[in-house]
Amino acid sequence: MYFVANWKMFGNLKSINTLDKVVKFSKSKEIKKGRLIYCPPYTLITSFFKKFQNCLIDIGAQNCHESDDYGSQTGFINSKMLKSIGANYVILGHSENRKKGETDKLINLKIKSAIKAKLKVIFCIGETLSEKKRGKTRSILSKQIKLGLNKIKKKSNLFIAYEPVWSIGTGKIPKSKDLEQTVEFIKKNFKGKLPKILYGGSVNPKNINDLKKINNLDGFLIGGASQNPKKFIDIVKKTFN
Ligand code: 13P
Repeated sequence: MYFVANWKMFGNLKSINTLDKVVKFSKSKEIKKGRLIYCPPYTLITSFFKKFQNCLIDIGAQNCHESDDYGSQTGFINSKMLKSIGANYVILGHSENRKKGETDKLINLKIKSAIKAKLKVIFCIGETLSEKKRGKTRSILSKQIKLGLNKIKKKSNLFIAYEPVWSIGTGKIPKSKDLEQTVEFIKKNFKGKLPKILYGGSVNPKNINDLKKINNLDGFLIGGASQNPKKFIDIVKKTFN
């Protein structure tokens, strides 16, 4: 099971001290089959990477530019640059970036460049509340998958993170039956080797007891709760207990 910490735009150099507990946990037997991946802001990737050097916690970024090469792109960072500083993962297509104008086409280009740079891609999809209310969840997810993965054959390093937009940061999670059916539906969009499927949206130490029962999930993408080491560790422990 994968537990991906998405720190979003939070954290400074002092945050590194909060990681001691997680490093210790990652070396204990309690971690069982949990694989931990931290995606801090760009500014902390190198420090986190150093912190995790003697343990198995992996590092990712939260976005990247779509270009494979260096270029005159003020303020941006591409996948090759991320790889060169130790990142192995990148989150792409997050709804917070879609909201800011990232289109399916742009996300597709980003995924292609990330795969080329040998990053593992955590590709986020999800419907808004109004799409859900209009019964459009499935058509939205299919469209995001089809366009986001257009002409991408190599799916071995791909994770799909199903993150209903209405669930992010709201404390609300989908009904278990709905979530199970949606995950099954997502899987049906793929032929051959299936990508790993994560769920994201208000995952916390309380609701993990329900979420862990969704038997077709490969892990969780965790926002707010992942910044608190105790909560993050609790989520992992409870998943296996
Ligand atoms: P929360 O866990 O804070 O709802 O955030 C989910 C998310 O957006 C992870 O990418």
